Amino acid sequence: VNTLVRARRHIGTGTFRATEKTHELVRQVLESGHISYGPMSMDFERQIAELHGCHFGVLANSGTSALQVALQALKELQGWEDGDEVLVPAVTFVATANIVLHNRMKPVFVDIDDYYGMDPFGVEALLPDHPKARAILPVHLFGQAADMTDLLYLARLYGLMTIEDCCEAMFASHYGAVVGSWGEVGCFSTYNAHLITTGVGGMATTNDPELAKRMRCLVNHGLDPDELNMDENFSPRPVIGRSFRFAFSGHSYRITELEAALGLAQLEDWRTMVNVRRRNANHLRARLSIANEHADADLTLPKERPGNSHSWMMFPIVCGRPEKGRLTAWLNERDIETRDMLPLTNQPVFREFVFEEDYPHAQVVNERGFYVGVHQDLGPDDIDYMADCFEDYFRSGR
Ligand SMILES: Cc1ncc(COP(=O)(O)O)c(C=O)c1O
Repeated sequence: VNTLVRARRHIGTGTFRATEKTHELVRQVLESGHISYGPMSMDFERQIAELHGCHFGVLANSGTSALQVALQALKELQGWEDGDEVLVPAVTFVATANIVLHNRMKPVFVDIDDYYGMDPFGVEALLPDHPKARAILPVHLFGQAADMTDLLYLARLYGLMTIEDCCEAMFASHYGAVVGSWGEVGCFSTYNAHLITTGVGGMATTNDPELAKRMRCLVNHGLDPDELNMDENFSPRPVIGRSFRFAFSGHSYRITELEAALGLAQLEDWRTMVNVRRRNANHLRARLSIANEHADADLTLPKERPGNSHSWMMFPIVCGRPEKGRLTAWLNERDIETRDMLPLTNQPVFREFVFEEDYPHAQVVNERGFYVGVHQDLGPDDIDYMADCFEDYFRSGR
């Protein structure tokens, strides 16, 4: 009862707060009378690309769209065929696997390691039997990088391309190299509850000019490359004087200056945002470790991979006992939002590609994993309140 009284507000998995800067930049867009691709979009692309060790950024209307055109561009440029394979981790958001199907390729699932990333040992075991594998698609899940040193070694050894799904891990790095800078291309999302959130939005970043150009064409209906400005990050030419020539079968994946303005405003203090998330995550981990010791909580708490700098998009937890439903209901009743920890291998849509039992680590996550928020608008009191609720649950013997 005490903890219920102490619930001052909803503890969500993500947050959005408009600052003075947000209002100022949005006002600038509205007053400019130009809301489609323009200076804000270009600046947002430049900054995100630079922060992730890349020369080129290509805005799209979602992380999924960015992934879709990244794989399509590679497939077209490399001459891959329908039915060729892409390695995907067995725990990720469904979009990572969906875009492989949408490109008429085949997802081959790889189980995860102790840090919830694609397991390099799994990749090593699979590759000799998969001569049609063309790419790996590691996902930097929950805010931390996958084991990119080992994964990239294997990709190079087998001549595969690497698409990094960075949708959940902006700003995170592995041995000093930031996500998005390891593979041929990195794809980011700015959907709700992500580290930078613009409502909807995504971006693909790369250092390969041909790939950047092709992705830019593909998000713009397959526009002919001659219609791009070659000097400004391959941005589309202004509409005036543009001829209607389409070279590829593309998509309408464009987004507006308004989302770019929201993103730019948040980039102003991304370091503080990540630092607060780190502080909150460390605080929650310390409190839940105590619950493990003294209240028999038996929770598997998230660990940081050696060499990683974690961005803590969320805080994943795996229950030791099969009681996830009861625990999350208890937390939800106390205004703490929880989400399932990205079940994939048990989804009906992937039934023909995967047997859940073949992926024991993913199966545990499917059955007992969930996550809570540690975002920048939560303070130490909120984290204590959350930890108290966990402890109350375990002490109550539910
Ligand atoms: C790992 C991962 N990949 C891809 C996506 C897709 O991003 P979006 O929702 O922007 O399409 C998400 C989004 O939640 C994600 O978490």
